[in-house]
Amino acid sequence: MSPRVLVTGGAGYVGSHAVRALLERDYAVEIVDDLSEGHREAVPREAPLHVVDIADRGRMDALFAARRFDGVLHFAARCYVGESVREPGAYYRANVGRTVELLEAMRGANITAFVFSSTCATYGDPVRVPMDEEHPQRPINPYGRSKLFVEQILADYARAHGLRAACLRYFNAAGAHPSGAIGEHHEPETHLIPLAIQAAQGLKPGLQIFGDDYQTRDGTCVRDYVHVSDLADAHVLALEKLAGHESGVRAWNLGTGIGSSVREVIRTVEEVSALRVPHRIAPRRAGDPPELVADGSRAARELGWSPRFATLRSVVETAWAWHRAHPRGYAECLR
Ligand SMILES: NC(=O)c1ccc[n+]([C@@H]2O[C@H](COP(=O)([O-])OP(=O)(O)OC[C@H]3O[C@@H](n4cnc5c(N)ncnc54)[C@H](O)[C@@H]3O)[C@@H](O)[C@H]2O)c1
Repeated sequence: MSPRVLVTGGAGYVGSHAVRALLERDYAVEIVDDLSEGHREAVPREAPLHVVDIADRGRMDALFAARRFDGVLHFAARCYVGESVREPGAYYRANVGRTVELLEAMRGANITAFVFSSTCATYGDPVRVPMDEEHPQRPINPYGRSKLFVEQILADYARAHGLRAACLRYFNAAGAHPSGAIGEHHEPETHLIPLAIQAAQGLKPGLQIFGDDYQTRDGTCVRDYVHVSDLADAHVLALEKLAGHESGVRAWNLGTGIGSSVREVIRTVEEVSALRVPHRIAPRRAGDPPELVADGSRAARELGWSPRFATLRSVVETAWAWHRAHPRGYAECLR
């Protein structure tokens, strides 16, 4: 019988791609998503969607009692750095408190395999680049801290209850499924590639470049854009890795190791779309490090993971295909 996996946040951007990756490998998949940010249209028919808050113990206990799950992939979270600074309580409740409720429900059902969406935001300002997993974790905003707290809580659960957990620290998720069927649709959108595409399409006012006087090759910030389907594949590999492991927590960076500047992203979007990206220089934003690039060699070595979309252009091409076909995101989709 195929292993059965529960995906929290499976109607969201990264989660919906992970659902595809699991189904392609013949896993049985069920989704818990409260649709606070997710999209019903992103969920394939083969994966039942339970519109439930992960902290609803009654319904989560009932779900776990109804069927045996072999593991949980946990994407459900609030993900806006700026909002987390304005509303820290909401972030600690959503990302920490609700995750503890989920872990307790899992404990009740004796589910011990857990793959957690962590982030490079747990590192804070880089003391060296590229950043490996031993880089100090000193997050500089409540969003990053909420994710670090969960990593630490997982270590406590591993010691006390035999949890086997993988913390996947993503750098900048980007791109869309190569089929063109699912992609990125956040409200509000804060990520550079969709914003640049929407500016090119005339759907958003011109793009703002926050600072062009950083110590980088062209003065703009450099980030590591990792394709969302590559992230999805890494989740499957991490889950399979946990199967052969005793209790404990392991962390893996997920990035390409290649940094791209804001100007390089704009140029690539212009080349791929054959449109101009209107943009202007704005002041720096507080808390934006000049350069965030992953050292992903541990994931390569231990998970056998290597990004299939290894160039910025290949990532942008899939994003462009999605946005060109769905300029209003999932509002364009009919099930
Ligand atoms: N997108 C990135 O660049 C990035 C980078 C690093 C880490 N991450 C992490 O990856 C995960 C997924 O990110 P994303 O970009 O796909 O976000 P997303 O907002 O698209 O997806 C999150 C999903 O979780 C659901 N959700 C939120 N709270 C819930 C709750 N209490 N109960 C049930 N469902 C709930 C939302 O409806 C949404 O569908 C998050 O944990 C995020 O912190 C994302």
